[in-house]
Amino acid sequence: MLNGPNLNLLGAREPAVYGTQTLDELNAHIAATATPLGIDVDFAQHNGEGAIIDAIHAARTTYGAIVVNPGAYAHYSHAIADAIRSVSIPVVEVHLSNIAARDEHRRTSVTAAACIGSISGFGAISYVLALHAVAQIPAK
Ligand code: DQA
Repeated sequence: MLNGPNLNLLGAREPAVYGTQTLDELNAHIAATATPLGIDVDFAQHNGEGAIIDAIHAARTTYGAIVVNPGAYAHYSHAIADAIRSVSIPVVEVHLSNIAARDEHRRTSVTAAACIGSISGFGAISYVLALHAVAQIPAK
């Protein structure tokens, strides 16, 4: 579970858009969902593009899948999109808000185009749905 920039400030950051749940609370909710699905989940959050790329590279030999919320990088980071394309494990993109319904510059995700699929607009449930998705993707 890899979160990008500014998601460390969940709860305090634009609560009308992203809700009042903190990142720790969100992660606890995700962990509670993962256990009955038989998924071991680890959590990381990075504000920098390079750290996100490094985490994607490192995950390829350690994890079965990545769920990533690239934050605003989704809209323009071809470097993160290339990192996603560079690993063979499935990567699912999530967004708390419905990016398709937001400002013009948020409606495109260059990173989602590199993922196996994306889920957007369900708040914390976006992450839960992504876990259900990765649980059903056959291992290579
Ligand atoms: C976000 C949507 C992005 O446009 C924004 O920059 C974020 C959060 C979301 O989860 O809704 O940081 O990724």
